[in-house]
Parts: sequence; structure tokens; C-alpha cells
Amino acid sequence: MRNEATKDSAKELIALSNPVATYLRFFWAGLVKHGQTGGIVPSQRFLIAKMIAPIPETYRGQVVELGAGNGALTLRLAARCPEARILACEINPTLARDHRCNLARAGFNGRVELFAGSAADLLSEMGQKQKLDFVISGIPLANLGREKALALLDAIRRVLGAGGMYIQFQHSLLDRRKIRTRFPDLRTVPAFLNFPPAVVYYAQR
Ligand SMILES: C[S@@+](CC[C@H](N)C(=O)[O-])C[C@H]1O[C@@H](n2cnc3c(N)ncnc32)[C@H](O)[C@@H]1O
Repeated sequence: MRNEATKDSAKELIALSNPVATYLRFFWAGLVKHGQTGGIVPSQRFLIAKMIAPIPETYRGQVVELGAGNGALTLRLAARCPEARILACEINPTLARDHRCNLARAGFNGRVELFAGSAADLLSEMGQKQKLDFVISGIPLANLGREKALALLDAIRRVLGAGGMYIQFQHSLLDRRKIRTRFPDLRTVPAFLNFPPAVVYYAQR
């Protein structure tokens, strides 16, 4: 996936990546674009651990992450699965830039790519070509509205191969039924040790 900022050198990106500033920009996005951001702080390690647990450390395929924020989960996943390729997607341009900075700082450029745009656009670009084993998402489904949320779930289902897994966290159980309509094989696990507390959905295609 090509984007404007891919032209930036890793050095320039690293210079922009002050961890406190990136944290504050996430916080600001959480305040001014709350519906889209769905939280005011990035996910923390217990939730992230639950989100990435089903992906084997030796996994060599491609993982798609939707709603990647500034990369809290992406970086953990890249560290856990050193042979996996990760295609992350973030709609907020400020967070997308911070995500790229964090990737450059961690030295994950190349194996991990960021698509700065909407999940719907990314998934439609991927079309039927790819059949993935794992799609991970932090997108606040409840804030999308029913039609958009169901369209997104359909698009996720289309890119997953048979037996593939869609892993989603949310801060409420509001979307459980919606997800179940598209993924009847659904397991829900609480992640209390996060601020705010969350639930993780493991949906098998
Ligand atoms: C709850 S935050 C999760 C961020 C990160 N994954 C984490 O765990 O810290 C949800 C993220 O999804 C992004 N987002 C919301 N709607 C989106 C969409 N339609 N396509 C791509 N990203 C989206 C938001 O901008 C936000 O960064």
C-alpha cells in the first residue's frame, strides 16, 4: 500500500516521535473525535496480550489490524511474531503519522505497513484476492451505526479464509449480537485489567 508519508525517511519520522507527545495526541483524538477514537488512551498490555494470544509466535502469514491508533497493539504483535507481516490501518491522519513514527523508532518498517485510511477502503482494496488467517480490530463498532458496522463485519468475513479468526475488542457488549449475526462461532472474554475495561471477541469464520 502506497501513501504519501511512506516517502518520509525513517530518520525524520523518528525525530517526530516523542512518546509523551504521541500519547497526548491520542488523548486529544479521544476527546475531540470520541466517536471515531472510541477511547482516550491506547490499549494496555493485558488487553493487548488477550488480543494477540491466538496468533502463534511462529506465524509467517499476514495479519491485518484495523483501527491501529498509534500502534500500541501493532508493536506488541510485531515483537511477538517476528516472522509475520502486518498490515495495519488507521483512519485518523495524526494517529497514522504517529503510528509510522513508532514503527520507525522500533525498527519494524518494512515488515509492518500502515494504510492511512478507512478499514472499509482497505478491505475493499484487498477484495477477494487474499484469504487471511487473522484480522484484529479496535474499531469502535458501536459508534459506526448498525448499517456501517454490519457492512464492515461482512467485509472482514470476506477477507478471512475458512477457519480464519476475527479478533475485536470493545468497551461494551453492545455489538455482541451484531457480530454474532456474521460470526455465529463467537467467544467473548473479559479484559478487566485495562482502562477502560474491555471485552475481547474471538470470532471464527
Ligand atoms: C479504541 S482505538 C484503538 C487503537 C489501538 N488499536 C489501541 O489498541 O490502542 C480505535 C482506533 O480505530 C480508529 N478507527 C475508527 N474508525 C476507523 C475506520 N473506519 N477505519 C480505520 N480506523 C478507524 C480510530 O481512529 C482509533 O485510532
